[in-house]
Amino acid sequence: MAHRDLRSWLQSVEEMGELRRVSGAHWDLEIGYLTEAARQKPDGPALLFDDIPGYPRGYRVLTCPVRTPSRVGLTLGLPTNYSTKQLIQVLREKVADWNATFQQFAAQQVEFGPVLDNVHQGADVDLLEFPAPKWHQKDGGRYIGTGDTVVTRDPETGAVNLGTYRIMVHDRRSAGLNIEPGRHGRINLEKWHDRGQACPVLAVLGMDPLLFRVAAMPLPYGMDEYLYAGAIQGEPVRVITEPVTGLPMPADAEVVIAGWCRPGVTRMEGPFGEALGYYASKARDEPVLEVEAVYHRNEPILLGSPPSRPPNESSYFYALIESALLHNALTAAGVPDVVAVWAPEGMTRQIMVVSVKQRYPGHARQAAILASQLPAGSAYGGRYVIVVDEDIDPTNTQDVLWALGTRSDPATGIDIQRRTRGSGLDPMVRRPAPRDTLFNSRAIIDACKPFEWKAEFAEPIEFDPELLERVQAKWPI
Ligand SMILES: Cc1cc2nc3c(=O)[nH]c(=O)nc-3n(C[C@H](O)[C@H](O)[C@H](O)COP(=O)(O)O)c2cc1C
Repeated sequence: MAHRDLRSWLQSVEEMGELRRVSGAHWDLEIGYLTEAARQKPDGPALLFDDIPGYPRGYRVLTCPVRTPSRVGLTLGLPTNYSTKQLIQVLREKVADWNATFQQFAAQQVEFGPVLDNVHQGADVDLLEFPAPKWHQKDGGRYIGTGDTVVTRDPETGAVNLGTYRIMVHDRRSAGLNIEPGRHGRINLEKWHDRGQACPVLAVLGMDPLLFRVAAMPLPYGMDEYLYAGAIQGEPVRVITEPVTGLPMPADAEVVIAGWCRPGVTRMEGPFGEALGYYASKARDEPVLEVEAVYHRNEPILLGSPPSRPPNESSYFYALIESALLHNALTAAGVPDVVAVWAPEGMTRQIMVVSVKQRYPGHARQAAILASQLPAGSAYGGRYVIVVDEDIDPTNTQDVLWALGTRSDPATGIDIQRRTRGSGLDPMVRRPAPRDTLFNSRAIIDACKPFEWKAEFAEPIEFDPELLERVQAKWPI
């Protein structure tokens, strides 16, 4: 069963033996460094920081929520003993269920909830009340929002959007938002600004990790992620209408801030250690969130998911969900016999591997071209799509390199696409770079046996697993 709030989620993680409590680590780099130490271990625990110097006991920070298959399972209400491959398979089916049912899970309006334990408005607002960490050595400030959920509304349709965008604390009452072009939150912001109006914004800074992960999923524009989270947890998310902005805020959240991004109001944001492993965006002017109200539970918990050189805390979840989404999208687009898809951890958009059972001339290229441009694939910031035969396991890097090294011909197997959709995080972009120049190029690499003579292709060396087992039983190695 999925969880309604962060505290019941924490209880389950503790029962699983995957929670480590840390007392006394400082917000200035120590929390970030311990998070880095935990993320370097594939089975590292979730970390709950308390007694943060300069802050009252109980003002906590949680990091590494979904670093392991077991915690991904827990967060999505799935079994906690699945392997990565099993999770991708089950996610493919679950995503289809959630897509089919999410409209039945309209958020449930309530009047009260724990998030209203403490309400600060106007001059009482103080973002410095919370122990926002400085995560990486060269960050330009303290980031209160990393594992967050930013809520905006389309002024034309009224549709609500949830997205995860980093948030830097400027001072007691203002914060910097970094939203990439094309993100749904940015589209909404621009629509308000085009009308000459301030954009109402809520930022949820601590909550059930499910809501954070759903906010960071590449769902279609116009789809309300509250409903999607409801479909995953099997019951509607409880929301309260926040009075300043009129936006729905999760009644069971830990911390919510509410305010406005006014047209033309920007301030220097960054640099920040980003998901591709660089401080690539550098510092630049970004929209300012002028905070009018803060809501928080007693002893509030910030949810942190700082990026770092991949694989990083978020990358495992992204690898699972993007692999499942792309596999489903390719199938829905009519590509037959897609056997497996893998968006390697930490490089989920930059490199994607698709295996197909080739049925007809051009089948492999069709799968690769679509994977390179479908929104569920590497449309945003992609670099390479590698297509391999069905005997290659895309999750096995050695297998994929074997196919690349033995079944691809650079002169005929690589196609280049130009002026495709780039990314603001791309370290290959020389700064300063105006955002309307963020194009990139990408390659599709066909590492499949040539279709027209695949039956004659050199036979791979295989070892009969039974015989292998028998000889080892006789002469243990
Ligand atoms: C930990 C984390 C931090 C992120 N930070 C940002 C960010 O600062 N800016 C951004 O545009 N996207 C960021 N993303 C990616 C978006 O959340 C993701 O693309 C999401 O699908 C955007 O939602 P939207 O399409 O509804 O706008 C982040 C994702 C994660 C997991």
